[in-house]
Parts: sequence; C-alpha cells; structure tokens
Amino acid sequence: MDLIDTLRTTGAVRDFTDEPVEDAVLARILDTARFAPSGANAQAWRLVVVKDPNLRARLRDLYLGPWVDYLTLTAAGLRPWSPVNDRDAESAALATDTGSAREAAASQGFTAHLDEVPVLLALFADLSQLAAVDRDLDHYTLAGGASVYPFAWNILLAARAEGLGGVLTTMLIREEDEVKKLLGADDPLVLAGVIALGHPVRQPRRLTRQPVESFTTIDRIDGAQFSPDTR
Ligand SMILES: Cc1cc2nc3c(=O)[nH]c(=O)nc-3n(C[C@H](O)[C@H](O)[C@H](O)COP(=O)(O)O)c2cc1C
Repeated sequence: MDLIDTLRTTGAVRDFTDEPVEDAVLARILDTARFAPSGANAQAWRLVVVKDPNLRARLRDLYLGPWVDYLTLTAAGLRPWSPVNDRDAESAALATDTGSAREAAASQGFTAHLDEVPVLLALFADLSQLAAVDRDLDHYTLAGGASVYPFAWNILLAARAEGLGGVLTTMLIREEDEVKKLLGADDPLVLAGVIALGHPVRQPRRLTRQPVESFTTIDRIDGAQFSPDTR
C-alpha cells in the first residue's frame, strides 16, 4: 500500500461485515503499532482486548448516554465538551428532552451494535508514565494524550494494511469510572479511548478535510497564509 495514499484515505469505519478477525491478525497489528512514538519513549499505553459478550454489551450500553449527549450538544450548536464551552449553555441544552434521540441511537447504527464489532480494544494510559509538559499551565492539558494517540492511530493504520478498517472512539471516557471497574483498571490508569476494528462494509475514499492554507501561516498565527504550489 502506498503510504501517502493510505494517509489520505484512512477514514473512520463503523460498519463491519460479520467476518471475524483472527487473533493472529490482531497480534500482527499490535506488533506494528507498538512502534508509535511517545514522550520519553515511555510507551505508557495499556490495551484490553474485550472479548466477553457481557462486557461488550455493558460497554455498548454505557456508550449510549454520552452519544446522545454528543448529538444533543451538537444540535444546540455547541462543540460537545469543548474545554472553553459555557457550562450553563451545555446544561441548558442537555436539559432538553432527548428521548427520541436515545431511542434512535439505541436501535440502529454503530452505537446499537458496538458489542458486535469484530475487535473491541480498550486503550488506557498510565498517568504515572506520562511526561505531561503542560501539567502546570493554567488551561486544559493536552500534551499527555499526545503520548498515547499516535499508538491508537498506528493501530488503525496497521489494521488498514491488513485490509481492515476501524475507528477510535472516546465517548466512553465520559463513563470512565464504570469502564475501569468493568475492566479491572485501577489508578493511575485512565481511559484514552475504545477502538473498533473489522472488515469494512465499505472503505471511505474521499475524506473531507480543510486545505493547508486554512490552518497554516508564516511566522505568526495571524501571519500570511502558507500556500506554496504543491505540484
Ligand atoms: C480523538 C478522537 C475521538 C473520536 N471519538 C469518536 C467517538 O467517540 N465515536 C465515533 O464514532 N467516532 C469518533 N472519532 C472518529 C471521528 O468522528 C472521525 O475521525 C472524524 O469524523 C473524521 O472521519 P473520516 O476520517 O471518516 O472523515 C474520533 C476521532 C478522534 C481522532
């Protein structure tokens, strides 16, 4: 597979065929993904392959609440859980009746079938191993996750090389306490996400992304657009 083409076309896959994914294939994926970079090369990730149908069903059920909240906040014109959101506006949006959204989400699509995805991986980060350089700044911290999410993305790319597709999900972080209890994860582990993998019903080919000049400037954030000819 051409690397550039892969990087430009690896989209989120949430619909999977019934074809199972052999453990040997998953093992190969993880064996490649482990070469991801991390601060101080700490490799502070821990992964749980969730196979037990009861655990999977419980994760599916836990996913529903945050997902409905996500839809509700989005419908209210908010970026769900942005660190700088007006919390009152969020609360007001979430106070609206979401019964029909909940019903729809519970009965169809990825949310309803999360327990059936061929591979379900719970990704944890060990806080004791994260060099979170922004820990002491007076704003929401971001740097710690940067030591774990390249690993998650490597899993998705390595899966693609095996003919699989998948998606990183973070909804279940809203239910972190329950997920940790369910999977026996104690502090200082925190949930970084849940990854679904499988054989895609269809592989997304045309991803929608902003052009480089929309987010790249020269010398200053308000500087001239960086937009040389890429031909
Ligand atoms: C940090 C992160 C969190 C995400 N969380 C979720 C999630 O909870 N549920 C989900 O269905 N997709 C989730 N996604 C997938 C995004 O929705 C997807 O990457 C984005 O919409 C682009 O989709 P595309 O690559 O198919 O164009 C997440 C992606 C990232 C990188």
